[in-house]
Amino acid sequence: KFDGLAATPQMGWNSWNSFACDINEQLIRDTADAMVKLGLKDAGYQYVNIDDCWHGQRDKDGFIHPDPQRFPSGMKTLADYVHSKGLKLGIYSDAGATTCGGKPGSRGHEYQDAKTYADWGVDYVKYDWCDTKGLSAPGAYTTMRDAIRAAGRPMLLSMCEWGDNKAWEWGKDIGHSWRTTADIYPCWNCELNHDAFSRLGVLRILDRQAGLRKYAGPGHWNDMDMLEVGMGMSGDEDRAHFSIWAMMASPLILGNDLRKMPESTRSILANKDVIAISQDQAGIQAWKFFDDGRLEYWARPLANNEWALMVLNRGEQAVNLSYDWKAHFISDEMSKREVDFKKAVYGWRDIWGGKSGDTGKKLEASVAPHSVLLLHLKTKG
Ligand code: DGJ
Repeated sequence: KFDGLAATPQMGWNSWNSFACDINEQLIRDTADAMVKLGLKDAGYQYVNIDDCWHGQRDKDGFIHPDPQRFPSGMKTLADYVHSKGLKLGIYSDAGATTCGGKPGSRGHEYQDAKTYADWGVDYVKYDWCDTKGLSAPGAYTTMRDAIRAAGRPMLLSMCEWGDNKAWEWGKDIGHSWRTTADIYPCWNCELNHDAFSRLGVLRILDRQAGLRKYAGPGHWNDMDMLEVGMGMSGDEDRAHFSIWAMMASPLILGNDLRKMPESTRSILANKDVIAISQDQAGIQAWKFFDDGRLEYWARPLANNEWALMVLNRGEQAVNLSYDWKAHFISDEMSKREVDFKKAVYGWRDIWGGKSGDTGKKLEASVAPHSVLLLHLKTKG
């Protein structure tokens, strides 16, 4: 996979979390417009992704067409529009014969579909895993990867098998990201199991990332699912959710309705300091280096000997933190990066709170329930 795509985790928007099957071409155009107008394109968001249910029927030669009522102008016209805004278009299919929404899947039509998407000008393919009984996951995703290559247009391949087949173990040279869990739900720590699919809150997804960081890197990321920022959680929870996804180098795919987004949500999603952590060139995922029973401490080594640190309060009470930097030697076996605060003084900036200081003095802070303290560290000198 030498296409250079997703050198940093992909950023964009997807229709599913807000709209499920209720989508149409006007929504996609309006979303592209909003992405530009609200400064999200400038902040780094690039892909406008149509999820399940855009499909009409296959014709007598097997070619797929969009739903003529919902996408009357056709996908090529829509792709041209999205491109005219300086953005890229994503589409959705499924490795089985039918998608999760019961639409035609790509099974047996992989090369034909990839060629069709390429002809339309599609830039991103999310490939789902419903109706795949008897299929090998590595086999099915490899087929779609090869079909995309044969189609001759660079298209990012987002693999969506929910971790059932441990795509991290074999997916690196096949897709650009792989889902690690069942679908996300906009809650802090809940888990819903009301039908065949379970849905997971922010912490439930984070807890399922243990052991996965070594599989992530430029061009191949652990996908913690699409963002639920602006979908009903509190401001602290939204900021924590966004910070966690950035620290973990997960793709940042917005899931809210961009056409009516309050400034409080927009300012979270456009926070350039958090996005800089997500998009750091070194591409090293965070890990939890310390847990004092009340707070979790996560570190992400950044390029140029910088670091991002996240202190996570999962609980229901505010926690007063008094952190003696010199007592903590942070050492990362995987990236061979370490920092010894006895030897080097780092300046830190609290990204959400705006304060700054340095590691020569204890860090004193109050961390609200369901929130994070997110710090960017740079050596002083
Ligand atoms: C399951 C996926 O995990 C979701 O993100 C979404 O694509 C739906 N399928 C669509 O049916």
